[in-house]
Amino acid sequence: MIAASARDVVMEFAGGDGPVRVLHGASLEVPAGGLTLLVGPSGCGKTTLLSVLSGTLAATAGEVEVMGERLSALDDAARVRLRRRRIGFIFQQYNLLPSLTAAENAAIPLVTAGMKLSEASRRAVPVLQRLGLGAHLDRLPRQLSGGQQQRVAIARALVHEPSLVVCDEPTAALDAKAGHTVMELLRSVAAAPDRAVLIVTHDSRIHGFADRIVEMEDGRVLGERPPPSRNDGYQGAVHD
Ligand SMILES: Nc1ncnc2c1ncn2[C@@H]1O[C@H](COP(=O)(O)OP(=O)(O)O)[C@@H](O)[C@H]1O
Ligand SMILES: [Mg+2]
Repeated sequence: MIAASARDVVMEFAGGDGPVRVLHGASLEVPAGGLTLLVGPSGCGKTTLLSVLSGTLAATAGEVEVMGERLSALDDAARVRLRRRRIGFIFQQYNLLPSLTAAENAAIPLVTAGMKLSEASRRAVPVLQRLGLGAHLDRLPRQLSGGQQQRVAIARALVHEPSLVVCDEPTAALDAKAGHTVMELLRSVAAAPDRAVLIVTHDSRIHGFADRIVEMEDGRVLGERPPPSRNDGYQGAVHD
């Protein structure tokens, strides 16, 4: 089962001297039941491809499917619904709401889906506990470290049990121990046969967690490279 796919995706942004083409016909399949890493040099279009695949940006050309639905065939409301229900987002910016506690922030996708905040916050507790935040449930974002805030954002991306979890540099701000915890959790999410995790990264420490590593360069997907055989955690140095 393919959780998400992009076929011949072209993406252009408006520039001073006319449109700037950032994706030149990129194709990618994200199979369910696994963790796919999308790697490549800075500026090659990883974040843009992730945004197109998750319906955050509309492609200039090409086809995108998420859980069997063609995004271009959906109207805006249906696309928003699909994104809210089926996709969890972990981005570099955490965007936590400053007046809500950790548990309330993590509960937001459930509240958006119609659950009462108190009930939704209770549901968020085990996810936060798994991320090592069980003692910080009632803290506000400003009372948490950067790494703790990022883990709240990760809990928020998982709380509604989305089919597809997309992550942009999820371990960039984390130390090795916190990064390991996060990757273990994402790997266990990806192990469910009907769920997929797609991670954009240039943190080579996390290559050992991948089921597949897909390489990108200059707005194109080059192909797959085998993941390292030792599949048990952080390894090697970080290069940024
Ligand atoms: N909203 C935008 N408007 C114009 N150019 C953009 C926009 N977003 C990204 N770009 C450009 O697209 C290219 C690819 O960016 P990005 O997808 O962020 O790369 P990566 O995530 O691999 O570092 C870069 O040259 C970047 O400057
Ligand atoms: Mg990026």
